[in-house]
Amino acid sequence: SGPETVTPTGAETGAPKTANAQQGEYLTTAHGARLSNSDQSLKAGARGPILLQDHHFREKISHFDHERIPERVVHARGTGAHGTFRGYGTASKISRAGVFAKDKETPVFVRFSTVLGSRGSGDLARDTRGFATKFYTDEGTWDLVGNNMPVFFIQDAIKFPDVIHAGKPHPDREIPQAQSAHDTFWDFVSLHTEAQHHTIWNMSDRGIPRSFRMMEGFGVHTFRLIAEGGKTVLVKFHWKPKLGTHSVTWEEAQLINGADPDFHRRDLADAIEAGAFPQWELGVQVFEDNEDQTFQGIDLLDPTKLVPEELVPVEPIGLMTLDKNTTNFFAETEQVAFNPNNLVPGIDVTNDPLLQGRLFSYLDTQISRLGGPNWNQLPINRSHAPVNDMLRDGMHQTAVHGGVAPYRPNSLDGGNPFETPADERAFIDFPQPVAESVKERKRPQSFEDHFSQPRLFWLSLSEVEREHTAQAFTFELGKCWDENIRIRQVRNLAAIDPDLGRAVAQGLGIPEQEPAETPAKDVEPSAALSQVGKTWPT
Ligand code: HEM
Repeated sequence: SGPETVTPTGAETGAPKTANAQQGEYLTTAHGARLSNSDQSLKAGARGPILLQDHHFREKISHFDHERIPERVVHARGTGAHGTFRGYGTASKISRAGVFAKDKETPVFVRFSTVLGSRGSGDLARDTRGFATKFYTDEGTWDLVGNNMPVFFIQDAIKFPDVIHAGKPHPDREIPQAQSAHDTFWDFVSLHTEAQHHTIWNMSDRGIPRSFRMMEGFGVHTFRLIAEGGKTVLVKFHWKPKLGTHSVTWEEAQLINGADPDFHRRDLADAIEAGAFPQWELGVQVFEDNEDQTFQGIDLLDPTKLVPEELVPVEPIGLMTLDKNTTNFFAETEQVAFNPNNLVPGIDVTNDPLLQGRLFSYLDTQISRLGGPNWNQLPINRSHAPVNDMLRDGMHQTAVHGGVAPYRPNSLDGGNPFETPADERAFIDFPQPVAESVKERKRPQSFEDHFSQPRLFWLSLSEVEREHTAQAFTFELGKCWDENIRIRQVRNLAAIDPDLGRAVAQGLGIPEQEPAETPAKDVEPSAALSQVGKTWPT
């Protein structure tokens, strides 16, 4: 017989099932001794000093001293809720993942977030919103870690530290706390034509959602679905809110943020408490898994591009309902660890170079954020499918693993754990041809067009939405101290659309600019440097 199934509860040692649940009637120390007084420290006489011998004082203060864990390096500000996903069965013909089966109900946990502000920042910042969903499926946990915008700032994950360093508050004064009016952000954006598409979404009304309940979600990258029998398709995931997509204006956002910086988290929690459960339909745009992975000239591996829904409609595949608030924000919303690596049989990644980098980053950051490699054992992160991973020991290990042979093959634990044959619902990495020449630090030619899609977005806006967008660019760039940055970005806007470039130039009181011609990579570093100049007043 093999090792016993691991139950990370400590039950094997005779300890209570739930660790330190704080449910007993009497106040105790952490090791269970009852206390008579937790209000006065042990002193040498009534007027002190406090004695080092006061074990209760030291335990209480020392534990408090270590209550905080690092906030997420991005998406620090967020709020979560539990719910259920019910498959429509429509995706079963394109994916063998059980989560999509007709009427199959799967528990989920969702965390909505802003990207750039710190954990205590205001909810109504102009920023992208995270929309991360953990599906606790019978076949393992699937995380769809998306945003409320369908495209991203950069095309290659190696530039993620760059865009985040530029977007986070200035290193000297830590101002501003969110993506709003600062030189480093606009310096980066103006030097990166690839960032224009995501930026125009941010500057549009989409940048300030009315409510998490009224927000779309996007998987952004193209994923690969694998059907029973092995046929594959490429898909883009979309969440469509039943309440529709709504925003607030900049002026409304200022008032709301001032009166109630918790507005979005309060709105979500209040709605759920009142029984007005928010719902989203999950849908997919489906593309043929062709050799070059393009659709009508759009490179599906380029995360700065979308495929218009007029060309490929979103097919609904299931419904998510959020119906339960958290009871412990720390244990659920803070400790949840989303990870694009969490895939299940029937859902796989593609070679999108942004997604490929994410597959490394989340696992890596959670080792430091959650103090070691065992975060999968935290209750919110536990798989609802049986786990036998042969991972052992490590910081904050709470499981008591049985057996003596955590390796394969072995002849001591009865050969356990067994591998699942590929055709019996194991996860299989879908085989993909690679280029003949490997090891190239290059961007493909098909990633070079940076203006036609922001233009498409601009042209899709109504007149009032265009006004808001031009006003947002004007306001934000107006707060830039460096005139070169302002001019460089207005040239990018002119390349998106002459009307946009003109409106923002007028708003800023500068002459109309010629459209930018070259992607930023073609700007000579020395020329770029000489344009940067002084970025902050002394
Ligand atoms: C966190 C989405 C790109 C690194 C998050 C979260 C979301 C998200 C929703 C918050 C998860 C939560 O609520 O706990 C996205 C999307 C991206 C993207 C949609 C692009 C399409 C990247 C890239 C990297 C990255 C390129 C790095 C190479 C991180 C890290 C965290 C994070 C380190 C913090 C995770 C944690 O501490 O638990 N991202 N992200 N992201 N993201 Fe991304």
